[in-house]
Amino acid sequence: MTSVANIIASAATVEQRSRTMLGDTITFGEPTDITTTCDSQLSTEPWQIDTEPGYGPGASTNDEAPSTAPHQGPIPAEYTDASEAELDARIIAAKETLGDRLKILGHFYQRDEIVKYADFVGDSFMLAQAAKDHPETEAFVFCGVHFMAETADILSDEQQSVILPNLAAGCSMADMATIDQVEEAWEQLMQVLGTSNDERAEVIPVTYMNSSAAIKAFCGRNDGIVCTSSNATTVLEWAFERGKRVIFFPDQHLGRNTAKAMGLTEEQMPLWRPYLPMGGNTQQQLEDAKVILWNGFCSVHKRFTVAQIDKARADYPDVTVIAHPECPAPVVEAADGVGSTEYIRKAIEAGQPGDVFAVGTEINLVNRLQAQHPEMTIFCLDPVICPCSTMYRIHPAYLAWVLEGLVEGQVHNQICVDATVATDASVALERMLAARP
Ligand code: 13P
Ligand code: SF4
Repeated sequence: MTSVANIIASAATVEQRSRTMLGDTITFGEPTDITTTCDSQLSTEPWQIDTEPGYGPGASTNDEAPSTAPHQGPIPAEYTDASEAELDARIIAAKETLGDRLKILGHFYQRDEIVKYADFVGDSFMLAQAAKDHPETEAFVFCGVHFMAETADILSDEQQSVILPNLAAGCSMADMATIDQVEEAWEQLMQVLGTSNDERAEVIPVTYMNSSAAIKAFCGRNDGIVCTSSNATTVLEWAFERGKRVIFFPDQHLGRNTAKAMGLTEEQMPLWRPYLPMGGNTQQQLEDAKVILWNGFCSVHKRFTVAQIDKARADYPDVTVIAHPECPAPVVEAADGVGSTEYIRKAIEAGQPGDVFAVGTEINLVNRLQAQHPEMTIFCLDPVICPCSTMYRIHPAYLAWVLEGLVEGQVHNQICVDATVATDASVALERMLAARP
């Protein structure tokens, strides 16, 4: 059973390793003044920063990228030097040549210059489903981030290829949980909680889609499951039918907001800090826990505050505030609606002329919704234009490069998940798809 001393000793190196990655910069609850912390100088083109370490400009600029985060090498100057009009013509020509052999998948947070070429635009759940539902497609070009492309590779057939136009398009939140940290945490939990004496497991691992394929595979191997922001409640219900408690990777906010909406209290949701023995918790806290929250967050969504909501309500008394569940709990609780990017899109779609919406999510989606609905007023709660640093890495120059590569029979930037990892990860993903309400 428990050997807390052993756990503390073995966790010492983990603490050092993880501190280097996450640093001491994590703040909890309401940030004080974050209006000055966003490097929004996105006039820099991605290829000017791809070779530099870190996430570059945008919301994740202050996050520490792990050394394992993929880098993008240089692409030919004929693409980076090309004008917008030239790239447009080349992308359209390549798309026409490739025809039905190709599907371009675009996440809602992509810039408009990319979204206009997408065959499917959606949230991470819809895009995963699109990859699964099109066995006739030879190549998916995924205009989104790395974990989404990995998921598409896992769910699609072996002979289909998934391409991420810029390999530096990762996700700082997904990088906040590494497979080594997760396995270390699991070992400690098993030592502390022991093996269950009844049918329900002591802990069920649940990972948000925004995590590496290796963590999804870990969940598949350990009777766990994946969730997205559109099905987190269903997935937690699935988990509680099978286990006494859950460990939720890597987004503490999605985990907390979902569990709170299900009636759980803060005391039942201790935070697991990967650099501390037992995640910084006592044995009693872990035994009493219902949802153990991994200490990760999204740097786009942590920028939203209750003060911003108060201001929106003062400026527009009839405003409807909608937030993504990656926002901190006080923001979600002060909002009128909460849900995935698709939920946000639908909520606004159902609005009437003259309606006002203040939205707590990434700026590209908010601006697009305003452009699509000029009869309404739609604005981002965050007064600073602070896009997702990694979604921004997908630029038409990279899209043209990978598409023309396909035309010439070359597959650039293919995302290939290791076969064993993919098999285990697909177990956890299929459980999610089956658990869908
Ligand atoms: P959705 O699942 O709502 O598309 O969110 C993905 C994401 O990365 C949000 O930050
Ligand atoms: Fe990751 Fe946040 Fe960007 Fe989504 S918005 S891809 S969670 S960093």
